[in-house]
Amino acid sequence: MSQKIVLIGAGLIGREHAVLLRANPRAELVGIADVSEGAVAVADEFGARFFTDLRDMLDTLRPDGAIIALPNALHVEAALACVERKIPCLVEKPIADTLEAAMHLVAAVEKAGVPVLVGHQRRHSPDIAKARQLVAEGALGRLVAVNAMWMTDKPGAYFEAAWRRQPGGGPLLINLIHDIDCLRFICGDINEVMAFTSSAVRSFEVEDTASVSVRFGSGALGTLLMSDTAVSPFNWDTAAGQALYFPHQPENSYHLAGTKAALSIPGMDIWRHETEDAHWQHPLIRQHVTLDGSRAYENQLNHFVDVIEGKARPLISARDGMLTLATVLAIAKAGRENRTVSVSEMLG
Ligand SMILES: NC(=O)c1ccc[n+]([C@@H]2O[C@H](COP(=O)([O-])OP(=O)(O)OC[C@H]3O[C@@H](n4cnc5c(N)ncnc54)[C@H](O)[C@@H]3O)[C@@H](O)[C@H]2O)c1
Repeated sequence: MSQKIVLIGAGLIGREHAVLLRANPRAELVGIADVSEGAVAVADEFGARFFTDLRDMLDTLRPDGAIIALPNALHVEAALACVERKIPCLVEKPIADTLEAAMHLVAAVEKAGVPVLVGHQRRHSPDIAKARQLVAEGALGRLVAVNAMWMTDKPGAYFEAAWRRQPGGGPLLINLIHDIDCLRFICGDINEVMAFTSSAVRSFEVEDTASVSVRFGSGALGTLLMSDTAVSPFNWDTAAGQALYFPHQPENSYHLAGTKAALSIPGMDIWRHETEDAHWQHPLIRQHVTLDGSRAYENQLNHFVDVIEGKARPLISARDGMLTLATVLAIAKAGRENRTVSVSEMLG
């Protein structure tokens, strides 16, 4: 029996969720709620009932699950509407636009015991899952240093949606949040951050570029570079070939280095010496790690169906999504205030 799922928000990623739902025999897209005229055509195309009010849709269709793909600031209100009705939901990242809103949702979710999965789909990608496993089993030795990049050139039309260029949107919350979530998943929690942010090219209220330093709870250090206005193949979406609407341009976007070996992601090469007593004057052996070939978004949807069916707990719970958000908001604060910010300070 397939699970009846509704979509709340049928914009850029919402439409992709509709395509994924149509292709998955375990799920059926039964309704779409959106306030824009254009979404009526999407509902027609996918054979789903159309609603302008999400609560009306939830009460009328009583779905088994909901996917929330609204602008960031509307996630919590929609997720609360699902939780109040005991409907499991997949809420797109970030879980909320502010930490207060995220905390409010986490409290409601944990009180109600309704499963909420946050849409950090990269955790469902085989390279990210394998990297986490390699670090956990000590294949790199003690993790020392990490570098991550997310740089690409978004077109002007992308910013016609006002929420993307206003506080609560912006590439820290829309894009770098995925990298922060991946690094937390692979390397463990981040305790402290420092950052420079810049809006020199686009002149929006939100940043277009950032450089970030982080200290992990394990003691390892990391740096991240982010820009949505720079031509570059150095971003996980195009590098991994796992994203839905970008060309695949094989590259690496993360580099991890430990006392025994280094790992590049998503290319998945491990670099190590042949013997334990070798050092920088000896050549490194490069070993490629073969992955299972599965797809991040498909895996995410199958996982969500497992969650609906009670076969799995959300891989990214509301609380976990809140911790990723707190780390990103610490970066924004560090950039604004030009100082080191701890994640615990953000969480009060
Ligand atoms: N995980 C990913 O790969 C990924 C990719 C892109 C976007 N996202 C996230 O998904 C969310 C949506 O992003 P997008 O780029 O698709 O945005 P978008 O602006 O293209 O789409 C948002 C949709 O929500 C609709 N909407 C606005 N207010 C509404 C309301 N009150 N009720 C119902 N519908 C309403 C809009 O009409 C629009 O169709 C964002 O939170 C973004 O961060 C995630």
